[in-house]
Amino acid sequence: MKKKLIAGNWKMNGSLAANEALIKALLAGLNNPGCAIAVCVPAIYLAQVRTLVAESPIDVGAQDVSQHESGAFTGEISAAMLKEAGIRYAIVGHSERRQYHLESDAVVALKAQRALACGVTPIVCVGETLAEREAGKTEEVVKRQLAAVIHTNGHCISEIVVAYEPVWAIGTGKTASPEQAQAVHAVLRAQLAAATPNAERVQILYGGSMNAANAAQLLSQADIDGGLVGGASLKAPDFLSIIAAAL
Ligand code: 13P
Repeated sequence: MKKKLIAGNWKMNGSLAANEALIKALLAGLNNPGCAIAVCVPAIYLAQVRTLVAESPIDVGAQDVSQHESGAFTGEISAAMLKEAGIRYAIVGHSERRQYHLESDAVVALKAQRALACGVTPIVCVGETLAEREAGKTEEVVKRQLAAVIHTNGHCISEIVVAYEPVWAIGTGKTASPEQAQAVHAVLRAQLAAATPNAERVQILYGGSMNAANAAQLLSQADIDGGLVGGASLKAPDFLSIIAAAL
């Protein structure tokens, strides 16, 4: 059976001292984890956290990556730079970037392509807003978002990680019910299956107010292969509980 993946998304939080304390607490509390683990940290802390987790089961991820290979793109970080720095994952298309940085489906697909080309695993986020859910458009929206990535990445698509993050559940304390999440995950799995014979291998994570109390139920669903955890990943005991629930 494929291992689940629990990835923390620290978003724009942290400091040198706080990161060190958090990683040390995680390492002290990890007891033969049954899942893969990653922390996706602000770019300026990638090197620090990479050093802190060296020789441990924790991988490091970036929260974004450039759609370009190199050159005059002030402020951007390339996939090759991430790879050279020992970074395993890059989140692409998080709803906060789609919303605040106007990232289109096409841009997200290119970012995934750049990451894959350099051996960095993209964690491709998809998810509907509350208005879209209420209008009955959930399936249409997530399929459109994933279709762009499938179209651009062809046969490499089985190498991506997908994260279903309903926008209305992010940072709100409102979680999709396990049944609601599973229903969307099944749609995404079927879409992947139409594109690759290896769709079962793709980890489809759930994200949106996942916490120590609701993780086990969400993670027991057939097509939920892990979590992309925001707020609860900043507290070692909470993140450790979620990791323990991912068997
Ligand atoms: P919360 O867990 O804080 O709702 O954030 C989810 C998220 O956006 C992870 O990428």
